[in-house]
Amino acid sequence: MDGGSIASAESTLSCARCGKPAHLHCPKCVELRLPRESAVFCSQDCFKASWSSHKTVHLKSKLSRLTASTPDEQISAALNEGWLYCLKKGQARTSKLPHFYWTGPLRQYPISSRRIVPANIDKPDWTIDGIPKIELNSDLQNVVEIKTLEQIERMRETCRIAREVLDAAARAIQPGVTTDEIDEVVHEATIAAGAYPSPLNYKFFPKSCCTSVNEVICHGIPDARRLEDGDIVNIDVTVYYKGVHGDLNETYFVGNVDEASKQLIQCTYECLEKAISIVKPGVRFREVGEVINRHATMSGFSVVKSYCGHGIGELFHCAPNIPHYARNKAVGVMKAGQTFTIEPMISAGVWRDRLWPDGWTVVTEDGKRSAQFEHTLLVTETGVEVLTARLPSSPNVFSWLKP
Ligand code: MF3
Ligand code: CO
Ligand code: CO
Repeated sequence: MDGGSIASAESTLSCARCGKPAHLHCPKCVELRLPRESAVFCSQDCFKASWSSHKTVHLKSKLSRLTASTPDEQISAALNEGWLYCLKKGQARTSKLPHFYWTGPLRQYPISSRRIVPANIDKPDWTIDGIPKIELNSDLQNVVEIKTLEQIERMRETCRIAREVLDAAARAIQPGVTTDEIDEVVHEATIAAGAYPSPLNYKFFPKSCCTSVNEVICHGIPDARRLEDGDIVNIDVTVYYKGVHGDLNETYFVGNVDEASKQLIQCTYECLEKAISIVKPGVRFREVGEVINRHATMSGFSVVKSYCGHGIGELFHCAPNIPHYARNKAVGVMKAGQTFTIEPMISAGVWRDRLWPDGWTVVTEDGKRSAQFEHTLLVTETGVEVLTARLPSSPNVFSWLKP
């Protein structure tokens, strides 16, 4: 993301990065009316260099303002209507949106009430108030953790549960099923395994998984729309178990899908496979995007730029940030013991994305279809272990994998 240009101000403050006398305020901090001392820089260079860690200050301030809700808002929330969660982000899923331009045929449908997680299940810190407090304040947003053997063992267990939950959801897919019913399968399978569905109330996300249909790139909210013959749907599952997260997704065919969509899904699958094949100690994180971009563009498709792979473990999202596009500026090299996701989103038309008024649903700008696959990976001494790998029991839904 770009920090934009910087607002000038006079003061005797010191630079948040290097400590030199500073007089430049971050424009976003000014807009959010944050205290003058909270971020001041001596130069554009220090501002730009600090941007990736500094921007969390903005998010924290926005989220903490949201929790200071009025009594009216608290009553609304207590009604438990799913779409009210979107309102908490200052967004809405209302039926009348006169000024919104829909990029494709898909429309939003009602969201069901919040599902319950039994009291005995260990929950992440956002389950009550929607705010991932530990994640936002952690040093692991800047440094890539090397996991201990004990952490790795927990990651293996959790990722296996996530895989089994995704497979259960995949088996439920057929024309006529609503994405909310898929969410129910994900929710029930997750709690049956003793795990928490990580998306539920993460930054106020209202459901237990993401379901992204046709032109939806990612973060689609499960709702009352019925899947139609010929649709494609991505299901993205993350579970929290024994203190760690496991994250994966796959894109599936609904009934009979046209040849172009099949090509798109197979190419996206191959993009992830090719990216995984280069993972080993010493490889630069920025190489991942080169490999994915090469395969996608060779097939006539484009690579989504706004959403990236991420570190994962005790935190849902942390360093490293792993873009899927070419000529990216990702820093650092892979080391044994790191765990992160790779999750390319490949679009049939343009790479640009737009956000629906619900504050979550990401769609292609031209309304053409987009597909995604995701794995959680562990860098080993010799290469990579795919922690969310398919199991012998996984449903046989991809023709190119048939024996
Ligand atoms: N599972 C998604 C990922 O791959 C994140 C979903 S966040 C949610 O990173 F809030 F939308 F669920
Ligand atoms: Co992910
Ligand atoms: Co995911």
